[in-house]
Amino acid sequence: MEVVICPSPDEVARLAAAKVSRVCRDVGPEVVIGVATGSSPLALYAALAEMVAAGRLDLSRASAFALDEYVGLPPGHPESYATVIDTTVTVPLRMDPARVHTPDGFSSDIEAAAKAYEDAIVQAGGVDVQILGIGSNGHVGFNEPTSSLASRTRIKTLTPTTREDNARFFDSLDQVPTHCLTQGLGTIMDARQVVLVAQGEAKAAAVAALVEGPVTSMCPGSILQLHRYATVLVDEAAAADLTLGDYYRFTYDNKPAWQRYLAGL
Ligand code: GLP
Repeated sequence: MEVVICPSPDEVARLAAAKVSRVCRDVGPEVVIGVATGSSPLALYAALAEMVAAGRLDLSRASAFALDEYVGLPPGHPESYATVIDTTVTVPLRMDPARVHTPDGFSSDIEAAAKAYEDAIVQAGGVDVQILGIGSNGHVGFNEPTSSLASRTRIKTLTPTTREDNARFFDSLDQVPTHCLTQGLGTIMDARQVVLVAQGEAKAAAVAALVEGPVTSMCPGSILQLHRYATVLVDEAAAADLTLGDYYRFTYDNKPAWQRYLAGL
């Protein structure tokens, strides 16, 4: 796992965008990007959008798969992840809406919708680079603590913590759905590369558990310790609980030139 501690949230976004865009260029125009909702990747998406606007990145033939979706929100609901991804990813990155996918959380057959989503990812050739945030309880996607480390896309019940964290997007806590459809941890682990971003002190404990704790379903993100190509980009506040912070800084500062794929845009 590569851990990069950045001096500011802006630098997290800048380096993450450099990493993601590098994969996009290496893979080619039909790259498949895994996208997360939440606040954490918004500046990363904005940085990618700047590259697209400047003609330095073309995602018009790329595909995207969102990690998750609430169950029960009708199509077009402003807080459905389909709508959020459209606004924060599809439009600014000038992607083809037909190639941007979210699980169908409004399906009358949720199990079939979960299977169809797994099949669609396989059909697209698998995810080349998965963008992730992390929940304050260590969840990735909506894989809450005690999720199977081998799980695939399925329905999950949100924890009270997650519903409270996400209540800011709704008028009241009661309006936050109780269930979601989420890619499983096994699905996420199939991505060829993973780029996780976290900012702020509220994420410090989760980041430390993910990077340095035991691999345990109590911190679902810790499964990324078993991924061959996971990059974790955090600001100083989110890095505060890391035991080996100085080592990660030293490692980044002393990267051999050929490994400096994160440097500069
Ligand atoms: C959300 C999403 C996750 C996201 C996490 C953190 O509920 N399902 O994909 O990474 O929780 O959200 P935020 O980035 O807003 O802190």
